Amino acid sequence: MFKLSSEGIDFVKKEIERYETRRSAIIPCLYRVQKENKGWVPPEAVAELSQLMDLPEAWINEILNFYTMFNKEPIGKLHVQVCCNISCCMNGGRELASHLNKEFGVQGNEISKDGNVTITRVECLGSCDTAPMMQVNDNYYENLTPEKAVSVIKELM
Ligand code: FES
Repeated sequence: MFKLSSEGIDFVKKEIERYETRRSAIIPCLYRVQKENKGWVPPEAVAELSQLMDLPEAWINEILNFYTMFNKEPIGKLHVQVCCNISCCMNGGRELASHLNKEFGVQGNEISKDGNVTITRVECLGSCDTAPMMQVNDNYYENLTPEKAVSVIKELM
């Protein structure tokens, strides 16, 4: 069962003091949990944050469920987010996502058998002029072809 590290608890306490209202610290604190828990936020972490931040769990869950950058389920070591919004879609984004699904043998938000890859189709990631593109963990890869995307992911594995 997940518990924040002592450094994580210190981080939460500092974030609470940084803002005018405690509620404003929810996003950085959820990021901290996600970083400490291999890329996803488990329900027990919401309860822990609620207690540490003295905020209702519902307020934390509102943020957790609204923003797509927070994962509510386990993900692979590499979280590959393929943009399928208009500009990327018109430049082969959907085909790129399908190619990666086939190449790594995953559907939906599954984790590949080796635990390395989860492929998620997402909305605009703000790099429309370099479509099609994908985000892998915290980095962007642009002007992709299916072959180039596979090669980028394999290099990162
Ligand atoms: S449409 Fe893909 S980054 Fe904007």
